[in-house]
Amino acid sequence: MSESTEVVIIGAGPAGLTLGNLLLRAGVACVVLERQSRSYVEQRQRAGVLEHDGARVYEDWGLGDSVLAGMPHDGLLEIRVDGEPHFLDLPTLAGGRTGRIVPQQVLVGRLIGAFLAGGGDLRFDAAEVMPHDVGSGGAPRVTYRDPGGAAYEIACGYVAGCDGFHGISRAGVPDGELTTYTYDHGIGWFTVLADAPPPRHPLFGIHAAGFAAQFARGPRASRYYLQCPAGDALGEWTDERVWAQLRLRLGDDGLPTGPITEKAVVEMRSFVVDPMRYGRLFLVGDAAHIITPMGGKGMNLAIADANVLAHALRAAVRDGDDGPLAAYSATCLKRVWNHQEFSRWMTEMMHDSGDATLAGPFRHRLARARLDRLFTSGAAARAFADLMAGG
Ligand code: APR
Repeated sequence: MSESTEVVIIGAGPAGLTLGNLLLRAGVACVVLERQSRSYVEQRQRAGVLEHDGARVYEDWGLGDSVLAGMPHDGLLEIRVDGEPHFLDLPTLAGGRTGRIVPQQVLVGRLIGAFLAGGGDLRFDAAEVMPHDVGSGGAPRVTYRDPGGAAYEIACGYVAGCDGFHGISRAGVPDGELTTYTYDHGIGWFTVLADAPPPRHPLFGIHAAGFAAQFARGPRASRYYLQCPAGDALGEWTDERVWAQLRLRLGDDGLPTGPITEKAVVEMRSFVVDPMRYGRLFLVGDAAHIITPMGGKGMNLAIADANVLAHALRAAVRDGDDGPLAAYSATCLKRVWNHQEFSRWMTEMMHDSGDATLAGPFRHRLARARLDRLFTSGAAARAFADLMAGG
């Protein structure tokens, strides 16, 4: 079956769903193709913080009520050093810019609801999705098969590759067109999701046994992170060891436990592609860059890219102005590198100030000084809060 639209969006994660909603608001026709089922996408648990700038994107496009209603604002952040608590009042330090505590699956569910309610065209279970002829001068089209095996072809003006790090959009770009930057942070994170009471505030633990953290994932669940050797095996982490290490590193003998629902090893690596474009294909979110979870920027970068691209596509399609599209990659990469730097800076501070084995005694003292500066210098704390809010 042959169809046509202005923009085909490949992938319905935070990037694709945000872009779809913004294009719908901008009056730019689009079709979203997602290879997974709706229930799979709505249940996928990942990020949990929407920074101030991310929330602003939905408000600015008139989606604040449908997407953000009832989502709690962020407030204090606790950094517990060898069991001793320190609090940073992020919204006050950031001049009133508050983020939202929101499990990603809640945001995704609302974005799907808003898109469909607005008449958006979202096709789940799309198999063999493939962009064609996106290079400059070509007439782009995207092919796929529906669950019954029927073949579709959608002719379009632009393709948005929002299909994550392992997607097909970036993989189809000819060799030599994109420069990639990768960095392995040399540590591992073991992460656990549990039906256990969330902390009152997002909590980071600094301890000689290694870094740990606990964040709310809704009213009755928590996500925990534990520093571990890079390449650590899941089998090393029994439930008993998880709780013992969390109690130790978070300095809380009475830490409430609960059934563990997920265990995973997170690869602590970074990746950036430059430019985030090939002809009429635009890479958005994880398809263009990945960042470690430290600082909670992955989902926010995806939303920021989608916002820049929506403005640029509106200018191109409605006003015939290609200038913002030409600037898309450079505009996004500025924020991407700023957040990569922040995430790396924070990773060093949080890890090296605890376990001195990897960093050595000199860098361990440097990291302690960096951490201490956050608690004693208003200027340093404000700069930190500003970056947490979006930079
Ligand atoms: N065809 C169609 N859809 C695809 C294909 C494909 N070939 N390959 C992947 N997808 C879909 C995935 O099923 C997924 O729903 O693309 C979507 C990509 O979503 P994400 O991986 O969540 O990437 P993105 O939307 O960029 O979000 C990035 O959000 O999950 C947080 O912190 C996380 O950094 C991450 C950020």
